[in-house]
Amino acid sequence: MATRNLILAFETSCDETSIAVVEDGKTILSNIVATQIDSHKRFGGVVPEVASRHHIEQITRCLDEALTTAEVTYDDLTAVAVTYGPGLVGALLIGVTAAKTVAFAHHLPLIPVNHMAGHIYAGRFVSEFEFPQMALLVSGGHTELVYIKSENEFEILGETRDDAAGEAYDKIGRVLGVNYPAGKTIDTWAHEGNDTFEFPRAMEKDASYDFSFSGLKSAFINTVHNAEQRGVELNKQDLAASFQQSVVDVLAEKTDRALDRYPVKQLVLAGGVAANLGLRERIERDMQERHPDTKLIMAPIKLCGDNGAMVGAAGYVAYQHQQRAEMNLNADPGLSF
Ligand code: KG4
Ligand code: ZN
Repeated sequence: MATRNLILAFETSCDETSIAVVEDGKTILSNIVATQIDSHKRFGGVVPEVASRHHIEQITRCLDEALTTAEVTYDDLTAVAVTYGPGLVGALLIGVTAAKTVAFAHHLPLIPVNHMAGHIYAGRFVSEFEFPQMALLVSGGHTELVYIKSENEFEILGETRDDAAGEAYDKIGRVLGVNYPAGKTIDTWAHEGNDTFEFPRAMEKDASYDFSFSGLKSAFINTVHNAEQRGVELNKQDLAASFQQSVVDVLAEKTDRALDRYPVKQLVLAGGVAANLGLRERIERDMQERHPDTKLIMAPIKLCGDNGAMVGAAGYVAYQHQQRAEMNLNADPGLSF
């Protein structure tokens, strides 16, 4: 019988194969991340079939390494947690199948984890959670404002109606010749330029908490193409700064209004785009000035992108709430809260 609460957590929803061992939902004993970025770069984005193949090739090695690094054996484990959605169906299935196999072979409970809940729980490595809580989730596939009334009780207040913020970064990055994923480079350039283009801020002032980034993306791409046709070279740093300012303005404005309407104890900033320094600086400043009584929890930059540790932290909470999956657990690519 295990005396420590050790969760083995699998994450394969997109282009990272990651397996972690997490103790008590808050201590990372190992967090192995095998990225596939080099394989997807030349296609300018994630190719689902290539992603699945990579997961198959990497998962056994990641599993061995996660256990070895954590200095534990299967006998020490309490449960197995796995992301079963949202994400790419073929990619999710590799993690789900591997997690089921381990759980079945070693008679361990299987815990189903929502990938977006995982992103939120990356914040758990920074601070204890208190509720009610709000999360601004910004990733390559999602942009959501989530109200968390109490532990494990999620409600989406608003979400993107078209592109996710990260997706927009990757698409405009491609136009500037930046390899996938483009977010980090655009962020760096943005700090070296100025908002001279004043791109649209879609839905910034409307009453909903929804977002839209495809108009911004089109405005950006049209600006670059028009200049190219006229033989004019635009300053990449200014383009990046203008794009980023537009994204950050809308995210910050909507978050601010949601916090006015739904007072909470904590705001969690998480997801791949939460690694953006411009966004972190802006939200930090806004919170100090406008919501000083709400504690800001920013996921550590290293844990903003997809990783198994966040799944282990979310899995720990789900485990305590008696959430269990059977051996017929399937991937759910469109899973919502
Ligand atoms: O959460 P994540 O790892 O995967 C999904 O669940 O989608 O997010 C990946 C996204 C990519 O679109 C990437 O360009 C973006 O996060 N990203 C950034 C930064 N670092 C990663 N976007 C803006 N600024 C960054 N520093
Ligand atoms: Zn993600």
